Amino acid sequence: MDLGFKGKVALVTGAGSQKGFGKAIALLLAKEGCDAIVVTDVNLDDVKKTAAEVEKLGCKTMAIGTDITNNAEVDAMVNKVIGEYKKIDILCNVAGAILQKDFMPIDEQKTEIWQKQMNLNLFGTMYLTRAVVPYMRKQKSGAIVNIGSGSSSQFSFGVQVYAISKYGLDLFTKQLAFQEGKNGIRCNCISPGPAPTNFGAVLREGQPPPPKEVYDKMHEEMMKAFPLGRMGKPEDIANMTALMASDVTWYVTGQVIQVSGGNVM
Ligand SMILES: NC(=O)c1ccc[n+]([C@@H]2O[C@H](COP(=O)([O-])OP(=O)(O)OC[C@H]3O[C@@H](n4cnc5c(N)ncnc54)[C@H](O)[C@@H]3O)[C@@H](O)[C@H]2O)c1
Repeated sequence: MDLGFKGKVALVTGAGSQKGFGKAIALLLAKEGCDAIVVTDVNLDDVKKTAAEVEKLGCKTMAIGTDITNNAEVDAMVNKVIGEYKKIDILCNVAGAILQKDFMPIDEQKTEIWQKQMNLNLFGTMYLTRAVVPYMRKQKSGAIVNIGSGSSSQFSFGVQVYAISKYGLDLFTKQLAFQEGKNGIRCNCISPGPAPTNFGAVLREGQPPPPKEVYDKMHEEMMKAFPLGRMGKPEDIANMTALMASDVTWYVTGQVIQVSGGNVM
């Protein structure tokens, strides 16, 4: 199937992690024929590695270091991209993380954690989108794909603040899709289930890994919650992201799509 990416310029945030969804998305968009992929991350050294792989696929690319929680940095980055490529057709808002360190009840999570978590997962995506949408409006087309989380659709002990920030992102997706449909801009959200990337690293900080028998038992218990029998892979998320970014799904907007092997139904 031709996804219609010829001549398209894409911007992918959170593309630095070499195990993460952003890199897998950038590489797939390049393989599927986008003209240019801009990859950005708070970690410039890492995102340069991703750009090198995108380039090897014959796609134009730029690696830019940007902290998405810094509105001025985000605006400067988008200006730079427009200066270089004149347009942005596809925006993939991937950067995000769990920032709460302790598995504590919701009312015991510190105010500072609430603020940081909202700044990253909700405000960061909002800054990016706000900077890009005026250019999409001018060309009367654009596809925005936000990466949410299955945690926003269920009770998630220990990651409640994270889940709340992602619920905000689900609703942001719908509000934007409703507002911008008439301008040819679509916005959808993909909700991954648990996948072994770096995003929950903070939860493990300072804790020794559990003994193998304990880990195996935990893993076996966890797998019972995946009807399709395994956790997610970055490629699973990249496949759905490419589909939602393409004109093949042009009639779909404002949707929150679970990509989790049935972990959330
Ligand atoms: N892996 C999972 O189990 C899982 C499940 C559900 C949702 N998600 C979501 O998927 C998205 C991607 O995460 P991942 O699993 O690839 O994790 P990852 O940690 O491997 O990648 C996330 C990337 O975001 C970048 N980032 C973090 N803070 C940033 C900031 N302030 N500005 C710019 N970049 C920043 C990191 O440097 C990293 O490269 C996140 O939004 C995450 O919440 C992940």
